[in-house]
Amino acid sequence: MVFHSVSSLITSLSYMLALFSPSTRATDSSIKTCRDENTTTPITPLLNYGVLLYRAFELMDVFGPLEILQLLTESKQYKQNLFLLSRTLAPVTTEPAYPPMNPLSSSFWPVILPTHTFADDPDLDVLIVPGGAGERSPDLGPEVAYLRHAYPKLRYLITVCTGAGVAARAGVLDGRRATTSKYAWGDITPLGNGVKWVAPARWVVDGNIWTSSGVTAGLDLVFAFINVTYPNGPELTTLISGAIEHKLVSNSSDDPFAARFNVPTQNYLG
Ligand SMILES: *[C@@H]1O[C@H](CO)[C@@H](O)[C@H](O)[C@H]1NC(C)=O
Ligand SMILES: *[C@@H]1O[C@H](CO)[C@@H](O)[C@H](O)[C@H]1NC(C)=O
Ligand SMILES: *[C@@H]1O[C@H](CO)[C@@H](O)[C@H](O)[C@H]1NC(C)=O
Repeated sequence: MVFHSVSSLITSLSYMLALFSPSTRATDSSIKTCRDENTTTPITPLLNYGVLLYRAFELMDVFGPLEILQLLTESKQYKQNLFLLSRTLAPVTTEPAYPPMNPLSSSFWPVILPTHTFADDPDLDVLIVPGGAGERSPDLGPEVAYLRHAYPKLRYLITVCTGAGVAARAGVLDGRRATTSKYAWGDITPLGNGVKWVAPARWVVDGNIWTSSGVTAGLDLVFAFINVTYPNGPELTTLISGAIEHKLVSNSSDDPFAARFNVPTQNYLG
């Protein structure tokens, strides 16, 4: 019964999105005249999304954004390709590599199959970097090197939660305003001494770099991102957030977790 309901839900979501698509399909001219959040740069549609995977990634940092972007794909208005990138094509597990982090030998660790390796170096428009316990691994050299190499070719970089730590280690956040998990603030911010770490912030945009606070803040970041980077972004944002019944936070400063975790206020504005 549960499975039946879930599959009906998915069918009706797809149906709802399909219904939505013909009347709001972006025309070529609307794409040409669409502007990004900077309001000066005409954009072409985003096509290729990558996700940087590493051992002990945080599940929702990956699947939260992909849930939203897959529903956007199911609206059939935009062609979108997904590249799941890792150092090898071996399954990537959420299990911590460091045994003391799994002292009871639990087996509660899903895996995900990469589609490409860093060496494939696909042309990406957007790269999503998740956080997770593995972010603090000393053995993150290939991930950091890939991010440093890929960033200059991206149109947008998105980090979720402690994924900002990977970007900080790659140096790509130097001189930028950025945020990260407030729960893990003390662990992550020292990884980027040249970064203008911002709190309170549910997410922060600096140029083409979008960084979110902890885990579920990544959902609100992705909605805000869709809102400004797609020609009919506000309609897509309303439709998809409603379809998944997400109580959207559209104010990027709405961050009660900074106070809860005693993170000092700093915003680097004026
Ligand atoms: C906006 O675009 C202009 C021109 O490309 C660039 O110089 C500027 O840095 C951009 N500002 C932001 C906030 O991205
Ligand atoms: C989307 O952008 C509109 C302005 O174009 C703004 O009023 C609205 O709050 C934004 N929504 C989100 C979820 O960012
Ligand atoms: C956004 O949230 C902050 C923090 O709660 C608040 O100070 C600010 O007034 C809010 N902005 C808007 C436009 O509601």
